[in-house]
Amino acid sequence: MKVILLGPPGAGKGTIAKALMQHDGSVQISTGDILRAAITAGTTLGKQVEAAMAAGNLVTDELIMDIMEQRLQEEDCQQGYLLDGFPRTIPQAEALKALLAKLGEKLDCVLELDIPRDVIIDRLTTRRTCNNCGEIYNVKSKPPRVEDVCDVCGSEIMQRDDETEEAIENRLQIYNQQTAPLVDFYRNDGLLVSVPSSDIEPVMQAIRQRI
Ligand code: AP5
Repeated sequence: MKVILLGPPGAGKGTIAKALMQHDGSVQISTGDILRAAITAGTTLGKQVEAAMAAGNLVTDELIMDIMEQRLQEEDCQQGYLLDGFPRTIPQAEALKALLAKLGEKLDCVLELDIPRDVIIDRLTTRRTCNNCGEIYNVKSKPPRVEDVCDVCGSEIMQRDDETEEAIENRLQIYNQQTAPLVDFYRNDGLLVSVPSSDIEPVMQAIRQRI
């Protein structure tokens, strides 16, 4: 399946993508994870985006499209993909549409995860992420078996740099201004499926019904 997961920071895009991947072999493509890996590796890309990401700002559409044009043509995308955190602006959505037309591919649906603001803040301030493998935890709803240690790979789990109150506020504002317009964009294309991001099962059901 080829699905876009759309929703504000903390909506559960990464969590849902990881759950869906186990179902049919689709690969999760998280632009946030790709950029964080570049920062950790100290690459030129990482150095270019580090400050913007820590402040909760978006990186440029050009950089993101360079990454995604290559990534979507890699071998593992043949089975399908779950786009997590991309597209995030109208220019990115337009560029993706053109790229898919060029590749002769179609999206199955765009899943909008709907979540109240107070739940977002709560989820983001209690989220922890594995430094090494990216597994997502939550101190309230999904704690690791051993405190601060990843169940999957045994590495340390931490809070992300963009989880300060100021950065979260900025990310939410940017979402409302630049990403929320994608809801109408994909509704007009007949691809939008909206689900409350409460439990994982209703989200899975909405996808099964659609595909
Ligand atoms: P990115 O990494 O994409 O961050 P985000 O969109 O802000 O989303 P998050 O990863 O914070 O949240 P999520 O929706 O995945 O929620 P999660 O599953 O973790 O982007 C980071 C930065 O990279 C951007 O700010 C920007 O700088 C840059 N960037 C990335 N892509 C870009 C692009 N395309 N263009 C430009 N810049 C880009 O869940 C959150 C918490 O809630 C977890 O603790 C989880 O355990 C818990 N939780 C999830 N679901 C549930 C549930 N159903 N019940 C209870 N708890 C739950």
